[in-house]
Amino acid sequence: MVSFGVGLLVYAPWLILLLAVALVPAFIGEAHFNALGYTLNFQWTPERRQLEYLRQTGASVETAKEVKIFNLHRFLIDRYRTLAEKFYLANRALARRRALWGTVLAALGTLGYYVAYAYIAWRTVRGDFSIGDLTFLSGSFMRLRQLLEGLLVGFSQVAGQALYLDDLYSFFEIEPEIVSRPDALPVPRPIREGFVFENVGFRYPGNEHWALRGLSFQLRAGEVLALVGENGAGKTTLVKLLARLYDPDEGRILLDGRDLRDYDLDDLRANTGVIFQDFVRYHLTAGENIGVGRVEAMHDMERIRDAARRAMADEVIEGLPLGYDQLVGRRFHSGVDLSGGQWQKIAIARAYMRDAQVMILDEPTAALDARSEFEVFQRFKELSAGRTAVLISHRFSSVRMADRILVLSGGRVEASGTHEELMAAGGRYAELFELQAAGYR
Ligand SMILES: Nc1ncnc2c1ncn2[C@@H]1O[C@H](COP(=O)(O)OP(=O)(O)O)[C@@H](O)[C@H]1O
Ligand SMILES: [Mg+2]
Repeated sequence: MVSFGVGLLVYAPWLILLLAVALVPAFIGEAHFNALGYTLNFQWTPERRQLEYLRQTGASVETAKEVKIFNLHRFLIDRYRTLAEKFYLANRALARRRALWGTVLAALGTLGYYVAYAYIAWRTVRGDFSIGDLTFLSGSFMRLRQLLEGLLVGFSQVAGQALYLDDLYSFFEIEPEIVSRPDALPVPRPIREGFVFENVGFRYPGNEHWALRGLSFQLRAGEVLALVGENGAGKTTLVKLLARLYDPDEGRILLDGRDLRDYDLDDLRANTGVIFQDFVRYHLTAGENIGVGRVEAMHDMERIRDAARRAMADEVIEGLPLGYDQLVGRRFHSGVDLSGGQWQKIAIARAYMRDAQVMILDEPTAALDARSEFEVFQRFKELSAGRTAVLISHRFSSVRMADRILVLSGGRVEASGTHEELMAAGGRYAELFELQAAGYR
């Protein structure tokens, strides 16, 4: 490029100017339309997500049953089509403008080339340039234009992609809100007193409604505490605060007399074994599904078998064609699907993989049959000897095994005590118990 450029400068400097006129508009046009394309994509993010969601819903194993039974395919397809059509039209409008302007600007470039060529030819005819000059000049003008064009196109492509990279980097820059303090303490071993909730209030981010408010109670070290309460009472939220997935907005949570925020986050999580009601079904092998409860011990088969035994998942797994090496879930070809209750047993085994001082089961037994749930909780109670445990269930036969029961309502503690105490008090607990018991009489 430098040598062609010098040649042009020596013979016909203003050809360089013509070159710029021919190239710069195309480059600016390219950059402009790159930016527009990016903006279009960015603005349509919610719709694109919706499209992706509709596609998933219409075509995945998890939704297949309902989609068929409710005949949803047409509804989903129509909705997808309407939205996709709008997005397509917006894209097409932009693509048309881009093509139109691209043609105009490219024509300008070609025009520049011919103007330069005509000028050189004219000077040659006039006798200023020899045929050799003509060949050299037109050749270098053309080559220079091609080279510069390649360079500018490459540059604008990089710049266009950089717009998206910018988003990626701003995503990487998001700092987690819940972090350990620099001088964080290790979680005491053993926990001596337990947890104390002091007037805890919590709202989910961006939500007006208080999920928990004025919540005060104690979770003593070594006790088995059951949480009962109607849907939306705040049971799961309470557990999330205990595991520090969120920090309270009001009040505080103490562990052995110190704020939960003073402890090391990783250590705290390592000390809590929680299985949520919406636990994850990993489409991995049965053994790995349990192993994920403690990734460091993923290959410790002894430990995995032991955890499976405790959660009564061993019978389920032994019934699988490949046992612990059987791929479960239907995402992959050789996977075997499990029933809801079988999945739950495997998920509960995950909690036993951990060497956690605090064990929490948040309704992961809802799909277990009555006998299984009873046995799971019975074992849970036995195995949590010396550990602090929280169990959440709607079945009173399980709940009554706990040392103490906390009745939550509207994000606060309504009553607490043993099963007998709460029955004697005759509040919501007794009412709900009677309701359930009546169903079985
Ligand atoms: N991720 C969330 N974002 C916003 N609100 C939530 C979220 N999860 C739960 N809530 C709200 O918090 C309240 C308590 O919910 P939750 O603790 O899940 O109840 P429970 O487990 O007792 O059924 C409910 O009013 C619910 O709508
Ligand atoms: Mg819940």
